[in-house]
Amino acid sequence: MIEFELNGQAVQTAADPAMPLLWYLRDDAGLTGTKYGCGIAQCGACTVHVNGQAMRACMVPLSAAAGASVRTIEGIDSAAGRAVQSAWAALDVVQCGYCQSGQIMSAAALLARKPAPTDADIDSAMQGNLCRCATYQRIRAAIHSAARALQEGPTHG
Ligand code: FES
Ligand code: FES
Repeated sequence: MIEFELNGQAVQTAADPAMPLLWYLRDDAGLTGTKYGCGIAQCGACTVHVNGQAMRACMVPLSAAAGASVRTIEGIDSAAGRAVQSAWAALDVVQCGYCQSGQIMSAAALLARKPAPTDADIDSAMQGNLCRCATYQRIRAAIHSAARALQEGPTHG
């Protein structure tokens, strides 16, 4: 039995410990906001937070979640996460949307550890998150906007 915290709730599962965390999230927990893209840690669509770090859930075995705090797009409620989501909406970042859960999770993790990132910081943190619709410029602008909002004061919602 593997026990961990998922979006703030204690969960336990008897699923195969070698199964990718992404399978558990989507198929067992029903959290389909986290997407499957490549399955080999190359696209970032499956990005979640494990103990606050952006991780590729397609390559993290379920066993690695034991005792950890896992956050998905459905449960992101940090100040950085809220600021990112507000900026994404304000700048109309999303095109098809498929990559965007992963983009938001990576951006929120970046801002949590680096509240005023440079373009280079952003490019470095986001380089593993691919976007077939090429929304990269809006993503970068939205991260800067979220950073400014975080510095100006608490976000709401
Ligand atoms: S599905 Fe995990 S990185 Fe592409
Ligand atoms: S918004 Fe379509 S893949 Fe990124």
